[in-house]
Amino acid sequence: MYSFNNQKREITFKKYNTPTPWMNYLSNGTFHTMMSQAGGGVAFYKSPQIWRINHYKFFHVPTDRSGFYTYIKDGGEYWCPTNEPCKTKPEKWQSTHGMGYTRFEAERKGVSVTATYFVGEYENALIWNLKLKSDSDKHITLFPYVELGMMEFMRELQWQCYNKHQLSCYNMEDVLVYKYGVETQPKPDETPLVYFAANVPVTAFDCDRDEFVGAYRSEENPQRVELGNCSKSTMYGGDPCFALQLEIELKANEEKEVNIFLGTAMTEEDIRKSVENCRKTDFVEKSFKGLAEKWDAHLSKFQCKIPDKDAETMINIWNPYQAERNFQFSRNISYYATGTFRGVGVRDTAQDILAMVPFDLRRAKDKLNLLFTQQYNDGHCNHYCFPTEGWEPVTRIHSDNHLWLVMACYHIVIEEGKLDYLDEVVEFYDGGSATVWEHIKKSIDFCLANLGECGFPLMLSSDWNDMLYKVCREGKGESIWTSMQFGTVLRQIAEIADLKGEDGSKYLETYEQQKKLVNEIAWDGEWYRRCITDEGTFIGSEKEPQAKIWLNTQSWSVISGMGDNGTQAMDNVKKYLDTDLGIKKIHPSMTTDYPTKDGNLTMYNKGCGENGSVFCHANTWAVIAECLLKRPENAYKYYHQLLPMVAQAQAGEWRYKAEPYVYCSNIFGPESDKFGLANVSWLTGTAAWMYVAVTQYMLGIRAKWDGLEIDPCLPKEMLPAKVTRVFRGKTYNITITKNEKKFISFDGKETDVII
Ligand code: NOJ
Repeated sequence: MYSFNNQKREITFKKYNTPTPWMNYLSNGTFHTMMSQAGGGVAFYKSPQIWRINHYKFFHVPTDRSGFYTYIKDGGEYWCPTNEPCKTKPEKWQSTHGMGYTRFEAERKGVSVTATYFVGEYENALIWNLKLKSDSDKHITLFPYVELGMMEFMRELQWQCYNKHQLSCYNMEDVLVYKYGVETQPKPDETPLVYFAANVPVTAFDCDRDEFVGAYRSEENPQRVELGNCSKSTMYGGDPCFALQLEIELKANEEKEVNIFLGTAMTEEDIRKSVENCRKTDFVEKSFKGLAEKWDAHLSKFQCKIPDKDAETMINIWNPYQAERNFQFSRNISYYATGTFRGVGVRDTAQDILAMVPFDLRRAKDKLNLLFTQQYNDGHCNHYCFPTEGWEPVTRIHSDNHLWLVMACYHIVIEEGKLDYLDEVVEFYDGGSATVWEHIKKSIDFCLANLGECGFPLMLSSDWNDMLYKVCREGKGESIWTSMQFGTVLRQIAEIADLKGEDGSKYLETYEQQKKLVNEIAWDGEWYRRCITDEGTFIGSEKEPQAKIWLNTQSWSVISGMGDNGTQAMDNVKKYLDTDLGIKKIHPSMTTDYPTKDGNLTMYNKGCGENGSVFCHANTWAVIAECLLKRPENAYKYYHQLLPMVAQAQAGEWRYKAEPYVYCSNIFGPESDKFGLANVSWLTGTAAWMYVAVTQYMLGIRAKWDGLEIDPCLPKEMLPAKVTRVFRGKTYNITITKNEKKFISFDGKETDVII
């Protein structure tokens, strides 16, 4: 069904009809395309909310339509190298996702096509590179096709009957141009034109979707392809598309290359220049080479060789790749996320930064600075912001957002081994500006100013766990987990304060106060409780009928170093929460009238999502906790069972459904009717944290202020481990044969280490 080629950093699929679309993201940071294994997906310029290029039909089956299809008309029949959407299928076919590209290799009746799609560095365009060959002299007609939509998806849903008359799609010297002219669009001056061009002569085209597709037909059988000619339709008001008709002569066994460009530029003049550039002889090759070099440079910063090949595949390739995509797209658009209302989430992005730190400190700092612009003078943060769309942020106050900023900042400073970043000045959301150092101190101040009656941080609009939003409606509910998160970052800020020559001890005093509360008030006898409601009910207690034990307060009791009974707490994680497909977030799942009918915590079905699924994001913290407890077998069990290819094999492909090469956010739990169904793949905090868990805790390679600490916690399945890690510009070659701690001081002398 699929196979990995780690040499090439690729995964190849032998069948197109995977249980769900298995996606890839092609991007140069400005122009993006999410593409499935069958050529479906969505392209957008900067933002899928306001500059979406093609229709992405979430509610339709198959669920990856529309797409980036090229019909090949060969005599009386037509087919697509993407396999979909035609009824006539290639005789031989495979598709491959690689680092920033997706390739289709297909053959039918002696005609073979290799179609590689990617977005290069040099133009904002999705490049479709088609290599064509025939075993006999042949004339074929190509019809590359994109179904365009209104750029603002939400406006399209609501207003298309009026606004679609403000769209234009026309031919400009054999380059098709689409103009989104809607009068009330948010950023007209920054809205680009979209173009579609080829590097071979164009015989005809269509800009009107209905002319191209025909009545009561679909992408499967467009009338213009069937007829063998386009109608040269323009579209000034209506439903636009881009379709080209390209006549190609193939000589027996001679390869012909055709390139198609779906791009954006601000003016017609810019389009002309851009297309001219794209059509240059070496442009496509140079762009592809640039992409390969970029990923090579990125990924080579951390590479390992270990006996567990599935883990190796994830650590070296797919996990950092996924983490980079999360860093870039936050939780914006995926097969699961509609790309309509989520911009940059402060808590999510702050966590994504953790996995960018070892790769690119400047990118990590710039992103964190963006998050600091969402902080207020009192220290709290907006929940999401929309820097690209220019929309108002979501201003809900959560108990954890501001604390993640401290953690991300700590990781940056320690990786760099310099305090300079702390002096960068960033504006506050409500006016004025301050250094990064002042910003993170404000995060602590806000937490201190918002403690509840028991002394734990107030839950406010929820902590990390979205579902707890009803706990503090009257302003009294408290979060025990946030207390542990607070404790974790208090130790980090204390370390930075000392490095800065300021007194870190006041932070440690607060840490001790919170620690005392955790052990005196939060300890339930067998595990740590989760939170306290406005009414004073302890959620996550043996005394409660439901949701008795929660994963996060067990793992973070260890991570924070606060829990005197962390070992027992984690033993109970194993006993009550672990399954063969990962650790459930809570046990038992709740009914929709718990703790009270009016104050119920959830409407989720049992075992789904927030209510008792295997929440993969939170599983990563259990891996870390077990490493801190020095229990390699447990850490490995929790790590290994969630490797996407392992979980998929365990659940069965049809039950698991999602991609075997990227993590998902959660997997339906045993109390659901779909135990093993993976949900919300790609854009999830699991990516960053799993990467941190395996590289910094299992392999144990952690940046410290004055060097590199190697503190592995590996089972026999992962030993011996060889790691190459670039740290502060030097390459370290580390061989781990046993779980022993070693410190490499940063004097640059010792770069080859054997433990
Ligand atoms: C997904 C959300 O994006 C994230 O912000 C949240 O922390 C988790 N769900 C857990 O509720």
